[in-house]
This record gives sequence, C-alpha cells and structure tokens, in this order.
Amino acid sequence: METKISKRAFSLAKKYILAGEAVAFHTETVYGLGANACSDEAVRKIFTLKGRPSDNPLIVHIHRDYDLSRLIDFDPPYAAALRQAFLPGPLTMVYPSKGKVSSLVSCGLETLAVRVPASRTAQAFLRTVDLPIAAPSANRSKHVSPVTAQHVFDDFGGEIPLILDGGACEGGIESTVLDCTGEIPQILREGLVTREMIAKIAGDCLVYLPRKGEKPKSPGIAHAHYMPKCRTVFCRSAEEAAACFERESAKGGKPVILCEHAAAETLRGYRLLDLGADDLEMAARLYALLREGEKTATLLIGIEPKKKDGAMAGVLNRLHRAFATEENGN
Ligand code: TXA
Ligand code: MG
Repeated sequence: METKISKRAFSLAKKYILAGEAVAFHTETVYGLGANACSDEAVRKIFTLKGRPSDNPLIVHIHRDYDLSRLIDFDPPYAAALRQAFLPGPLTMVYPSKGKVSSLVSCGLETLAVRVPASRTAQAFLRTVDLPIAAPSANRSKHVSPVTAQHVFDDFGGEIPLILDGGACEGGIESTVLDCTGEIPQILREGLVTREMIAKIAGDCLVYLPRKGEKPKSPGIAHAHYMPKCRTVFCRSAEEAAACFERESAKGGKPVILCEHAAAETLRGYRLLDLGADDLEMAARLYALLREGEKTATLLIGIEPKKKDGAMAGVLNRLHRAFATEENGN
C-alpha cells in the first residue's frame, strides 16, 4: 500500500476512517495512529498494526466541540475546571465510560480515556471526521514514539494509507493521563501538564505509583516502552559516561552520549546528542534524539539529568524507561 504524507488531506482521511482504515495524524504531543473508536474491526486493526498488547487500552480523541456527555457517565466537580484550564491540550482525562465506543478501546475496563488535542491538524481531522477516534502513539509497540511524519513513515510506511503531517510535535512527550473517577484526580502517566498545575486548579492531585505485584491502573505503565533499537546504558555522571564511551570505542564500536546541556558542556569532543537546558526543551527533543541515536550508535549512553523541576517528572519517566534495558556485552 502506498503511504501518502499530506498536510491537509482531511476529506481523504475521513474516507479512510469510514472504510475502517487507520490514519496517522499530528498532535502537539506525539503523532497518533487513529481509527474509528466505534468500530471493533477498526480498533482491532490498530492493535494488530502496532503489535500492541491486548490489555493496554487506547485514548479516544475528540474535537473541541464534540459533546463529551455522549461518551462519559459521570463528571466529577473538579473536571470542568480542569477542562477549562487545559483543554484543548496535552491532558487526557479518564472517566467512567458510557460504553458507546467499541469495548476493545478500553480493553474491558469500565473507564474511558478522552483527549482533546490542541494541534490544528488534529482538530481539523477530528472535526472533519466528527467521530471519536481511538489513537495510540503511531509507533510500533515498545519503540520510541514518533514526533515527525517521517518517524511514523519509518515505522508504518507501506502499511497505512495516510499520514496527516503537521510538522514536528512541539510538546514531544505523550499527554498527562489523569484518572478523574475519584474524589481527587490522580495522575496515571506524567506529562507536560504537571501535578502542580493540576493541583492549582483542582485543589489537590495525587500521583499513582503501582505497588509491587499490583495490576497497574494504567496498564501501559507495565509494558516495555520507548526502546531504541541499539544497545543502551544509563549512567549517573558524565565521568561514568566518558568511561563507557572509551570502552565501547576501544572495542571498535560507535558510542553516542545523550545528555542535558550542562553535561554536554563538560563532554566536548565526545559524540553527543544534546537534550537542551530546560524541561520543555528536553521533552521536545527527547524522542527525535533517541531515534537519531539508534540509527548511528552501536551503544547509546544516557546520563541522568540533574534538572528535576517543572515537566521533568514526565521527561525522566520516559528517559528511565528508554534506558531500562540492561546494557549487554559492555
Ligand atoms: O499524547 C498522547 O496521549 C498520545 C497522542 C497520540 O494523543 N497518545 C498516546 O497513546 O500516548 P498511547 O496508547 O501510546 O498511551 C495511552 C496510555 C497508556 O498508558 C494506557 O494504558 C493509558 O493511556 N490508558 C488508556 N485508556 C485508559 C483507561 N481507561 N484507564 C487507564 N489508563 C488508560
Ligand atoms: Mg505509546
């Protein structure tokens, strides 16, 4: 199948969605792989294309004027204020579901994750289709999420008919997933809308940490994710990273170091991927650099950033998971 990349083929996208196909589209966080959330067959296609575990539910995407009450059963008092403050934007809210979309979307859970993306491309697509669109990140399961149309093409070229290209995703990491089924909202996945930002509006905000052996509330947390295709190792300091670099080079390998700007300054002369200096910059660059690193390196060496403020909780979560696999053979 030919994969078309287009900036404005919204009517064509609608045609494909109504025919049960999956269409990739830009959002302000990462690219999504969308299909009609009301069709079992279309939703199944997403799981098959991605190789996604069948117990990892999908987020439903709607345009800003879509009537949310068609999809959800209960709206806690704090939710309206959160929507007012952050939507459209990188916040996914989990509500009790009315069961109006395919049961495959939530993998049997009684809740539904709903997102209203801010991206103009995403909004134009969702408005044209005027259906709830189930969409995970448009990467093969376990691989690094895509932040350009080319990244999507690299994973799905020839397998999907259309990528709606809105340029590079300015956010760079996936939306914050917020459980809105309880008295106090609870973050299930950290993102650019932070705990502090939510607590300021809702009065309080919890962060969910699955206890050992417990089935996580957000099944995606338990799965391997964001993995570069090359060997990786994670270091606590620039000195440790330099030593790894030397060892790999001595063996004839081609190591690359991925680190925040302050560490990069102390490692001049080494092959580097500079994440930048602040939380938003690091979020925006992370996935593109991981994808660049896996193409050129035999060993990708990550360094723990010293910055921890703002949206760093989300960045650190992705970074730790990208480097979670033990380095082998070093
Ligand atoms: O920014 C984003 O959220 C991107 C763009 C495309 O919108 N989408 C995205 O989807 O990251 P995905 O499928 O890669 O991640 C969805 C996350 C998973 O961790 C999943 O477990 C969680 O949301 N999730 C979905 N439905 C849920 C539900 N009903 N209850 C709890 N967690 C849910
Ligand atoms: Mg994903």
